[in-house]
Amino acid sequence: MTAPARRAVLILAAGLALLAAALGGLYVMGGPGGARLAEVAGPQIGGPFALTDQDGRRVSEQSWPGRHLLLFFGFTHCPDVCPLALGEVSVALDALGPAAAKLQPLFVTVDPERDTPAALKDYVSAFDDRIVGLTGTAEEIAAAARAYRVYYKKAPVQGALGYTMDHSAFVYLVSPQGKLEAFFTHETKGAAMAEKIKGFLAKG
Ligand code: NI
Repeated sequence: MTAPARRAVLILAAGLALLAAALGGLYVMGGPGGARLAEVAGPQIGGPFALTDQDGRRVSEQSWPGRHLLLFFGFTHCPDVCPLALGEVSVALDALGPAAAKLQPLFVTVDPERDTPAALKDYVSAFDDRIVGLTGTAEEIAAAARAYRVYYKKAPVQGALGYTMDHSAFVYLVSPQGKLEAFFTHETKGAAMAEKIKGFLAKG
């Protein structure tokens, strides 16, 4: 395994350990290499958040009443996992068609130092205009990440970038009542994501 691959496995393991601890073993994942899709019933993941959106407005989990939230934590300088995940979210949005209006995709940065509202807006709109970028103070990001059991850590790198962010990369589907309905990995294909989301949207 190359060093970056080893690092990715370690980050995935750390993220999964946090999730497993929160779920008490309730999650199920697909076979090796297959579409990894997990559905959970645990109330322990998720919760209120207070953040700033890409237009500088203060928002919370209640800012999109009646909509399901599709939440992803990442950062705009991410070389691989974030673009991959946001690409699949964009595919899912297109696959959902008009039903996507009942869904609010959110991209929460784990790098608030560099990801200003304007930088986030630029970044997410390159994938899909319906995705809204969220940032906040270091404390607000930490609280939101804690609620969703997201692992993230600053990691120094050589060169102009200075540092990168290690982070777990799950896409969370949350009901209008704030209940976690499902989560996906960055490897879940957009079509499979849409199929799963469609079922939850139909239930209200
Ligand atoms: Ni990333």
